[in-house]
Amino acid sequence: MNDPSRPFPIRVFPGPADIARAARDEFLRRAADAIGRNGRFNVALSGGSTPKRLFRELAEVDRSGEPIRWRSIHLFWGDERPVLPDHPDSNFGTARELLLSRIAIPAENVHRIRAELGPGEAAAAYERELRDSFGIGADETPRFDLILLGMGKDGHTASLFPGTGALRETGRLVVANRVGSHRTVRITMTYPVLNGADCVLFLVAGADKAERLREILEGDARPEELPAQAVRPATGELLWFVDAAAATRLQAQADLSG
Ligand code: 6PG
Repeated sequence: MNDPSRPFPIRVFPGPADIARAARDEFLRRAADAIGRNGRFNVALSGGSTPKRLFRELAEVDRSGEPIRWRSIHLFWGDERPVLPDHPDSNFGTARELLLSRIAIPAENVHRIRAELGPGEAAAAYERELRDSFGIGADETPRFDLILLGMGKDGHTASLFPGTGALRETGRLVVANRVGSHRTVRITMTYPVLNGADCVLFLVAGADKAERLREILEGDARPEELPAQAVRPATGELLWFVDAAAATRLQAQADLSG
C-alpha cells in the first residue's frame, strides 16, 4: 500500500520512447552495479506491450554501443500466459523476438516459465527453478536486483488481477492464478517475490491508464481492487516511470525531466 511516510519517485517522461530510454539506462546501471558487487544481475522482465521498446533499446545498445555483459545476466519473467512460446501472447516469445534473438546470452541464463507444462506444474517448476538459480532454501525468498512491472487498465500487475486468489498468497513464490471472465489461468510471481526485490520499476504509458494510475498512486488503499498498489518492496526501491499521457490526473507535480 502507499505508505505516506515512505514516498517513492514517480518520474514523468514526455512519451513511451523516453520511458524506454530511461528504463534502459536504469537496467544498465543496475546491471553494472550488481555484476560488480555479486558477479551476477538477476532481473525479471514484464509482459504486455510497454516493455517492447525497452527490449529494442537493449538490443540496440548491445549492437552499437558497449556490449552488455549478458554472460553475467540472468533473465526471468514475472508472469506468463497459458500459451506456447511461439504464440503472439507469450511474454517470453515477445522478449525472444525483440531481444533474445538479437543478443549473445547463454541459454542457461534465460529462465522461461514453461507454460506448456500446464499452469499448476509450470508454477511449481518455476518456483523450483527460482530456488535452484538463486541457491535458496524452501523458507527463503529470492532477492531480485530488478523486477520490471507494468500496470493494466484494471490496476493489475504481473498476473496479479483484482479479486483473484494469488493476491492472498504469502508462502509460495509462483502460483497459477485464474483470471478474467474467460477464467484463463496464468502463471505469476507473488507479492513476496515482488516485495523482496532490491528494486521494482513500473513502466506505464498511455492516457487510458491515467485514472487508474491516480487511484493507485494517490487514492485510498484498495489492494484487492488495485493489485499494483500492494507492490511496495520491504527494503528495496520502488520506481514509477510514467509518460505525460498517463500522468495527466496526478496531483504530484510532473517532472518532465525525462
Ligand atoms: C502481462 C503483463 C501485465 C502487463 C500489464 C500492462 O502478462 O500482460 O505481465 O501485467 O504488464 O497488463 O500491459 P501493457 O504494457 O500492454 O499495457
